[in-house]
Amino acid sequence: LREHEEFTKVKNIATIELGRYEIETWYFSPFPPEYNDCTKLFFCEFCLNFMKRKEQLQRHMKKCDLKHPPGDEIYRSGTLSMFEVDGKKNKVYGQNLCYLAKLFLDHKTLYYDVDLFLFYILCECDDRGCHMVGYFSKEKHSEESYNLACILTLPPYQRKGYGKFLIAFSYELSKKEGKVGTPERPLSDLGLLSYRGYWTRVLLDILKKHKGNISIKELSDMTAIKAEDILTTLQSLELIQYRKGQHVICADPKVLDRHLKAAGRGGLDVDKIYQRNKSSGVS
Ligand code: ACO
Ligand code: ZN
Repeated sequence: LREHEEFTKVKNIATIELGRYEIETWYFSPFPPEYNDCTKLFFCEFCLNFMKRKEQLQRHMKKCDLKHPPGDEIYRSGTLSMFEVDGKKNKVYGQNLCYLAKLFLDHKTLYYDVDLFLFYILCECDDRGCHMVGYFSKEKHSEESYNLACILTLPPYQRKGYGKFLIAFSYELSKKEGKVGTPERPLSDLGLLSYRGYWTRVLLDILKKHKGNISIKELSDMTAIKAEDILTTLQSLELIQYRKGQHVICADPKVLDRHLKAAGRGGLDVDKIYQRNKSSGVS
């Protein structure tokens, strides 16, 4: 199911072209052997087929009839859309996406069995089509209550809040399923940073509004965040005390306010992200 050798291999693809961006890659990705002699690959931004030469891509673009990821558009707000792609119904797309994503994911192993996964593709849409900004994958059935396997924001779109939006979306799916979830481990440094930020923001917002005592279990039920993740987050915020063999949340309003200030801007929901991008001139 998983390939472990790839960690030790040397990166050969140095750049990719995707839509209107040329992107420098970060890590090795195990493309099929016939691509071993390439340092640059040209991706169709819609079906994610990749080619060795620009002319091949140009020919492809004339006949490729996709203008958005395959699968169902399950969410839209302003110019942002989310598509759900079933790896079983769109095998080649799922594989292409995994090859692409591995270029930016270090610790993650590549899944060849895309059948078992759903892919959630976040796009910015305009009159030319829906352009992928990032995605996450999710196992259809996870024994370990994982609600997200891999997450990526493409480098040109990073640090705009899309990572946190994708994370928020993964928890919204868990809420709809009536389950708690957690991301697959290990997390990368950037992954951990993003999750810590999300968990902190969500939990502080609830603690700020909530009157009276609240338990970790209750927080977990409200947020679909796994109890262990709530505990480590609140511990790092020094909002947990250990009394009579139990972890107790001590939400001192002053401490909360200090953390809330430090946590800074929100922007967990898509409408806020949209507004922020519009006002900062990002199209
Ligand atoms: N340096 C410092 N802080 C950063 C950086 C950076 N380069 N990038 C993001 N952050 C911080 C942001 O400031 C923000 O912090 P806040 O919560 O205090 O506001 C937080 O991380 C999230 O920022 P977003 O803009 O929402 O996230 P982004 O769209 O950049 O995506 C992601 C985050 C998906 C982790 C992205 O960095 C990425 O794709 N990295 C490469 C792939 C990767 O490592 N994925 C995670 C692997 S673990 C897993 O898949 C389960
Ligand atoms: Zn195509």
